Amino acid sequence: MKPEVQPNKLVVFSGAGVSAESGLPTFRDANGLWNAASWERMSSPQGWKKDPKAVLDFYNARRIEAWQAKPNAAHLAIASLEAAFEVVVITQNVDELHERAGSSKVVHVHGQIAYARGTSHTRKRYRVDDAPITLGQLCEDGSQLRPDVVWFGEDVEFLEEAKSHIASAGKVLVVGTSLSVFPVASLVKAARGRAEKVLVSLDVSRPPYGYSFVRSKATEAVPALAARWLAEARQNSNELRLPAEP
Ligand code: OAD
Repeated sequence: MKPEVQPNKLVVFSGAGVSAESGLPTFRDANGLWNAASWERMSSPQGWKKDPKAVLDFYNARRIEAWQAKPNAAHLAIASLEAAFEVVVITQNVDELHERAGSSKVVHVHGQIAYARGTSHTRKRYRVDDAPITLGQLCEDGSQLRPDVVWFGEDVEFLEEAKSHIASAGKVLVVGTSLSVFPVASLVKAARGRAEKVLVSLDVSRPPYGYSFVRSKATEAVPALAARWLAEARQNSNELRLPAEP
């Protein structure tokens, strides 16, 4: 059974584009990571098996970039929505810019680069912040440590939880994602017909059904949208407070 739609619940589903203006590269734009590097070599269990040092080096560099980046106006605007809404951020990003902007509920479906984890089934994770992970650095269970990020061919994290958040949201904002990596991209379809749905991105091959597409930089469109939603919420709560007419 589908969960009930909660008008006050707002779900943000973000991708690399929301962090682009913080200086972090996206994956598929002209200067994207997967244009310069091969995802098969850097982001798959096969690549790890073949050359784990190259994979560690790649993510060590990305960990430092992510650590040094600062939240931008889009991250901050998303955090500000908590003043009036129950906000859940579902992100494909492995950086922590949403948390650092002040968002209190962030679900990372593709992992977090500031963590390492073992390679055995115990999957114990450790916070490493910006420190490199090196070959020979072992988990307590004796297995080699690797970045706690999801690679192609691996299971996405918290998918069902993410789906149920989107299905119960009264508003859904999708921002900075090409919606080309599955199964996560299909989350947008879990949003309900009566939810207000907006997609902010510079480019998307086919905007999903029912979403209004705003072709814009995240730092421009997201603060404007957040201001509108906050103003509407204030207006609604003022109307509720007015005394009933005699
Ligand atoms: P992509 O690189 O595929 O898409 C980024 C999207 O952001 C594109 O649609 C851009 O047009 C848009 N964009 C770029 N700059 C923007 C800006 N300033 N404001 C708004 N939009 C902007 O990145 P993702 O969709 O996040 O997975 O990629 C999904 C997954 O593919 C990643 O999580 C990663 C990658 O392989 C794993 O590593 C498992």
